[in-house]
Amino acid sequence: MPGLEKVTAAVCDKAAPVADLDVVDLGSGSGQVALKLAPGARSVLAVDFSSDMLRILQDRAADQGLSNVNTQLSTLQALRLPDASVDVIVSNYALHHLRHPEKVELLGRCAKWLRPGGRIVVGDMMFGLTGDAQGRQIIAGKVRSIARRGPAGWWRIAKNAWKMLVARQECPEPMSSWESMLTGAGFEVFDSGRVVAEAAFVAGRLRPSPASA
Ligand SMILES: C[S@@+](CC[C@H](N)C(=O)[O-])C[C@H]1O[C@@H](n2cnc3c(N)ncnc32)[C@H](O)[C@@H]1O
Repeated sequence: MPGLEKVTAAVCDKAAPVADLDVVDLGSGSGQVALKLAPGARSVLAVDFSSDMLRILQDRAADQGLSNVNTQLSTLQALRLPDASVDVIVSNYALHHLRHPEKVELLGRCAKWLRPGGRIVVGDMMFGLTGDAQGRQIIAGKVRSIARRGPAGWWRIAKNAWKMLVARQECPEPMSSWESMLTGAGFEVFDSGRVVAEAAFVAGRLRPSPASA
């Protein structure tokens, strides 16, 4: 998927430099971001709730001779790490699986896990499901392109509409929402941008706490 590759590349690019730093990848999948960052980093912890994904990631890390990659089988909702133990947190195409309050809660924990000056880079589908013109345009464009595939496409639309509207398994949010969630969690947004029509990245740096400022 060229779109996904572009977002992955943007997340890796914005996460740099990671030389000698401890990195955590939230919703790592089989390691598209984690394994790209690992060669320069001190350590990479890849977190995912799929043991199959983590097994593939471990095999790929071993094939590439990477000994600084660890995995943790956990939901992001249940993940707990020691305070001030991480320098860079990345997440690519995973956090739309979390509902809004879960994202807010996770970002609050991320702020605690990071050392002073630590960074977070989130790449994901970023548009609103309800309302904003850009979100409506993106969804309409997607629906049109899927519909052109005929019955298989119509089935996919029906399935995804059901997922979004009933099960709410996918909860993308607009870039503006990500920027305010990061700001609210104690980050200064230092970069953000749209990569492809439906996906963007937002990068933040931990603001100094009032006591240390
Ligand atoms: C679309 S994949 C993206 C994988 C990878 N980050 C990449 O860039 O290719 C989303 C990943 O998030 C994981 N995931 C989804 N919801 C999760 C949750 N609540 N807790 C932990 N992992 C989750 C899935 O298992 C999957 O591996």
